[in-house]
Amino acid sequence: MNTTVVAIDGPAGSGKSSVSKAAAAKLGFAYLDTGAAYRALAWFCLERGIDTVGADGITDALSEFDFSIGTDPDAYFVRVGGDDVTGDIREPRVTKIVSSVARVPEVRSYLVALFRKIMAGVPNGGIIVEGRDITTVVAPDARVRILLTATEEARMGRRSAELTGVDASTTARELSSRDAQDSRVVDFMNAADGVTTIDSTDLDFEQTVQAVVGLVHSAVDKR
Ligand code: DC
Repeated sequence: MNTTVVAIDGPAGSGKSSVSKAAAAKLGFAYLDTGAAYRALAWFCLERGIDTVGADGITDALSEFDFSIGTDPDAYFVRVGGDDVTGDIREPRVTKIVSSVARVPEVRSYLVALFRKIMAGVPNGGIIVEGRDITTVVAPDARVRILLTATEEARMGRRSAELTGVDASTTARELSSRDAQDSRVVDFMNAADGVTTIDSTDLDFEQTVQAVVGLVHSAVDKR
């Protein structure tokens, strides 16, 4: 496969999604937001009234989960069945339960296989894949592997700025409780062997995008 795979992991509020999308657009690469798949399944469970406390209903739902995602960074969409759920999957009711859905092993193996299929279908050039377990599970052989971090304070500040009408202490509480739940399933707080850490605490958005693009260029040049 001639596709350059760039794997990016990091905690909530690290800016991974927007940075990955912008870096992919600059590089002419495809972009895969894996968190969107976990969110879409959580949304689907809510729509169907499926209990997400236990794993059985969630696992059964997989057989009817008709998910599609756009990998063009300039034409991003998320669909379930005939519905465009691009905006709906960001609703607080989805964010609240997504960790319970993502911790189910059958869900993880199903989605990891789907992500690999999407990656294999990218025609040429490259793809940036971002999530929590991309550098370690989904694409451990990726040409470029990055852990995008920022201090908890910086991440919370950014997330509060994104959400209007929500008080900062609620955002902080929810963000750290989601990270705590998610990191029981996969470790995205520490860089695995061979993974480069980009700490964006003191970088602005453009500088962070440039840091990613720079790493990709130097890896491709070395080929
Ligand atoms: O990146 P995000 O906030 O949209 O991710 C939503 C949830 O999905 C997050 O709480 C953790 C989970 N997730 C995961 O377990 N593995 C991934 N590769 C991506 C996301």
